[in-house]
Amino acid sequence: MMREVAVIGVGLSRFGERWNAGLKELMAEAGVAAIEDANVKSSDVEMLFGGTMASGRFMGQEHIAALMSDELGFRNIPAVRIENACASGGSALRLGYMSVASGIHDIVVVGGVEKMTDVTSAEAGTALGGAGDQEWELFQGITFPGLYAMMAKRHMHEYGTTEEQLASVSVKNHDNAYKNKYAQFHKKITVQEVLDSKMVSDPLKLFDCSPISDGAAALVLAPLEVARKYNDTPIKILASEQASDTLRLAARESLTSIKATSIAAQKAYKHAKVSAKDISIAEVHDCFTIAEIMAMEDLGFYDKGKAAKAVENGETRLNAGISINTSGGLKGCGHPVGATGVKQAVEVVWQLRGEAGERQVKDARIGLTHNVGGSGATAVVHIFGRAN
Ligand code: COA
Repeated sequence: MMREVAVIGVGLSRFGERWNAGLKELMAEAGVAAIEDANVKSSDVEMLFGGTMASGRFMGQEHIAALMSDELGFRNIPAVRIENACASGGSALRLGYMSVASGIHDIVVVGGVEKMTDVTSAEAGTALGGAGDQEWELFQGITFPGLYAMMAKRHMHEYGTTEEQLASVSVKNHDNAYKNKYAQFHKKITVQEVLDSKMVSDPLKLFDCSPISDGAAALVLAPLEVARKYNDTPIKILASEQASDTLRLAARESLTSIKATSIAAQKAYKHAKVSAKDISIAEVHDCFTIAEIMAMEDLGFYDKGKAAKAVENGETRLNAGISINTSGGLKGCGHPVGATGVKQAVEVVWQLRGEAGERQVKDARIGLTHNVGGSGATAVVHIFGRAN
C-alpha cells in the first residue's frame, strides 16, 4: 500500500551567471533554504537524490549527490546522483517520491544543480548535445537549438504557427521573470525585440532560446501523515509519472509533438483523478519557445495546433485562463539543466501555498510540472495539490 507524499520544504538559489559561486555555494543556498523551510534537522534526513546532467563536463566535478549531502551536513545517509539530461531534476523528484511512498524512507531531500557558465557557449552546446543521439545528431553537427528549430519549422508547416506567436511565449515568460527575484533575466521584452534578436537556428532567435545558467533547487519530502508536524502548509504530490521515447528525433512518429509528454501526462491525470481542465498553474519545459507550445498541446491544455494562438491572445498569462510558467520558465528564469525540474516544483509549491508574491495566481489549487530530457526522449510530469 503506497503512502501519500507531501512537499514540506522548498528552496532555490538565485539563477543566472553566478561568477562568485561554485557548485557548493549554489547547493548550500538552495538546500539550507529548503531545510529551514521544512523545519527539519539535518539528522532527520534519511536519503538524498541529487539531479545534475553534466557537472563533470561543466565543472570537472562528479559524485554530486555525496557532495550535496556533505555540504548540507547529512552524515552517512545514502545519497544518489540522478542523470537524465535536462530532466535530471524531475527524475530525482520522482525517485524521492517513490522512496517516501514506498515506506522505505520518511524525510527525503531532492536537490538539483548545474553550473554551466564556466565554459564557453560552444563547449556548453556540445555538453548539452550529449542529451541527444551523439552518433546520429551531435556528431553530424546538430545541437539542441537545431533540433528544436526543426520541430518549430514542422509545427509552422502543419499548423500555421508564426514567428510572432513563438515570440509571444518569450515576452510572457520575461514578464513573469521580471517579478521573480530568483530569475536570471529582469528585463521586459517586446515581440519586435524577439524578432530582431540574432538568429540562432532558423526560425529560433536568441530570445526564443533558454540561456546557459547556474543555479540550484531543493525540496524536502515527507509522508503526508506526518507532514503537519513540520509544516502548516504541506503540498501533496497527487501524481508522479515519467515516460521515454526514441533518443533520436528522426526516429519519432511526429516532429510536432512529444509522445513521452502525452503518455506521462495521461497517466498522471489518471493517478491524480483530475483532468487537464483542473490545472490552474503549470511550469512547462520551455527550453525553446516552440517547446512551450508543444507542451501545452501534449499536456492536453489545448488541442493540437491551437496553443500558439492562445499564447498570442494572452490566455496563458498570470491569472488568465491557465497561468503557464509563472516563474518565468526556462526562458526567463534560466535553465541550469540539472536544477530545472526541481525548481519547477518549488514554484508550484509557492503558488499553491499562496507565497508567490507579485506572481501569485489567485486561488491556485492544482499545479503541474513538466520536465523534458533531450528533445523529448524523457518526460516527467508531476501534479500537486493543497493538502486541505
Ligand atoms: N536569452 C536572452 N539573452 C541571452 C540568452 C538567451 N537565451 N543567451 C545569452 N543571452 C545574452 C547574454 O546575457 C549576453 O548579454 P550581455 O551582452 O548583455 O551580457 C548576450 O546575450 C550574449 O551572450 P552570449 O553568452 O555570448 O550568447 P551566445 O551566443 O554565446 O549564446 C545561445 C546564446 C542561445 C546559443 C545560448 O544561450 C544557448 O545555447 N542556449 C540554449 C541552451 C540549451 O540548449 N539548453 C538545453 C535545452 S534542451
